[in-house]
Amino acid sequence: MLLHNRFPSLFLYPPPAITTMAILGTSEAMAVGLTLGALALVHYVKQANANADRKLPPGPKGVPFFGNLFQIDVLRPYPKFREWAMEYGPIYRLKLGPQEVIVLNTAEAADELFVNRSKTFSSRSPPHVAHDIMSAGQRQVFLPYDTEWKASRKSLQVAIGPGASKRVRPSQDLESRVLLYDITQHGEQSLQEMKEGPNGEVPEAHWFSLVRRYTTSIVMTVTYGKRAHKILNNRHLHMIYEVLANFTKVGQPGNYLADAFPILRKLPDFLAKWRVDARKMHEWEMILWGGLLKELQDEISNGISRDCYVSNYLRQRGEAGHEDAPGCGLTEDGWLRDTLLAYTAGTVLEAGSDTTASTMQSFILFMISHPEIAKKVRGEIDRVVGSERMPAFEDEPNLPYLVACIKETLRRRPPTIMGIPHSSDEDDVYEGYFIPKGSTVIGNVWAIHMDPKRYPNPFAFLPERWYEEGKPTRWGSGPDTDRDHYVFGWGRRFCQGSYIAEASLFIVLARIMWGIDFILPKDEKTGKPIIPDINDEKTFSDGFVSIPYIYKLGFKPRSEKHKKLIERSYEDSQAEWQVLGLKTDER
Ligand code: HEM
Repeated sequence: MLLHNRFPSLFLYPPPAITTMAILGTSEAMAVGLTLGALALVHYVKQANANADRKLPPGPKGVPFFGNLFQIDVLRPYPKFREWAMEYGPIYRLKLGPQEVIVLNTAEAADELFVNRSKTFSSRSPPHVAHDIMSAGQRQVFLPYDTEWKASRKSLQVAIGPGASKRVRPSQDLESRVLLYDITQHGEQSLQEMKEGPNGEVPEAHWFSLVRRYTTSIVMTVTYGKRAHKILNNRHLHMIYEVLANFTKVGQPGNYLADAFPILRKLPDFLAKWRVDARKMHEWEMILWGGLLKELQDEISNGISRDCYVSNYLRQRGEAGHEDAPGCGLTEDGWLRDTLLAYTAGTVLEAGSDTTASTMQSFILFMISHPEIAKKVRGEIDRVVGSERMPAFEDEPNLPYLVACIKETLRRRPPTIMGIPHSSDEDDVYEGYFIPKGSTVIGNVWAIHMDPKRYPNPFAFLPERWYEEGKPTRWGSGPDTDRDHYVFGWGRRFCQGSYIAEASLFIVLARIMWGIDFILPKDEKTGKPIIPDINDEKTFSDGFVSIPYIYKLGFKPRSEKHKKLIERSYEDSQAEWQVLGLKTDER
């Protein structure tokens, strides 16, 4: 059985992502193309005239109408975007069809626009098909900077913001004990040959699926008060990965001509199969996100009450007189209606599962690629923790080298490698360059993290850049100016779950490095270990969340003593799940 990964497959109902050209017959396409071409020309000339006397940022020359669209590998754009950064400097401009795209390539430029001028640069220009149609305009991460987004973000703050993140720690503690046990039981299984499915599906039997269960279960518990307590035959887990994979693909900039050319949105349904398909995708997504919401609504009607984001919100909304609030958007007095609530909750799962899991998979890859660094991490943990107990959250201030390795992983291989594009609500000028209102503005995380001025020898994995002997742990990743990497984005759109993400990473990686030895696959002929090349882009997936492809690895407890501790703490966790009223693990 395969767990869905980055691309859609035929597991449930994942309608294929198809481009506009693919759905028209040749003669229809020509007729439509000519008409639209003429309209686009008028628009293009008008826009070119409007910007003629303003100094726009430099950038690569494109072709009429399409601009730079064909110069970009839509599934793996970041190498080209970095190349342009080296050529044009801190800011450059692209045209993707009629869309102005401004790319910021230094921390200074991104901080100035996204943080200091956040009032102007906090919106989004979401992909039309993925957001307006597939998400009925309700997907939180894509919402423009408006009252719906503000209400949705505010509602999440009490569940996943900095203060709330402390309340998630008991779940992270228990789930990390389960993962530790899972990988010791898994042993050498993933040393065998396994392949991702044709659409990038992760095999259920591979150790990656154990890691994903861990990260997904944490965000599921926060959001819906339910664990992902098993991997096999777990309907919810499958659907979540299915929706995520489809969303990553459908939302990929450049996937649909209708995203780039608004004029195509006027086509009637019979010429716009993408619209019909995307509506079906919405219905299919609502089976998941709407279904989960409905389950909790029913529980509340039956007097069952969970302590989680959705149930707490529904209860408060009910007390305000909106027990029923179907549809999209907000009630007159500002409460999220059902569809917006369903997508806001879904966003937490979409934003928090694969991003965190892939960071763990990259971290382990860096450790096996740099055994001397892994040894240093273990040395630090041994000194602070010893072998009588597992690392705990209280150890965090005393494990600065481990944290430096986590930060270096996030810098060297950011999962959201090009960030999530913002959009400008007003005309503005930066360093003499005009930025038109409505531009898509990209914080080029990859170029910033690979900037040799900021991070000397940027392609090397050097945790020492974040570490000074004797100094306590410093995450340095907040939304303010006191930060030293950019993986969580910027300003008012800064990742709302960053504290949860860091804690999930810290506790489980501290425990893995404390108690688990890695077993590397060996080349039969040479006897040398086989390790994917971290400097080869092909080790990592394409798509806008770029994550390692599955790789072979075995696990064993470091000693009999460690093994016993891992087993005991797993058994204790089962008892604790019951006390918390949550499902125990099924294996
Ligand atoms: C290593 C893990 C993670 C990474 C790299 C990451 C990265 C990001 C990035 C780059 C953004 C967009 C920021 C911007 O627009 O400037 C974002 C937004 C967001 N993230 Fe995360 N994230 C991670 C984990 C999480 C977790 C665990 C949660 C939930 C518990 C979460 C919840 C969100 C939400 C709700 C948003 C939407 C913010 C908005 O548009 O208002 N993220 N994340």
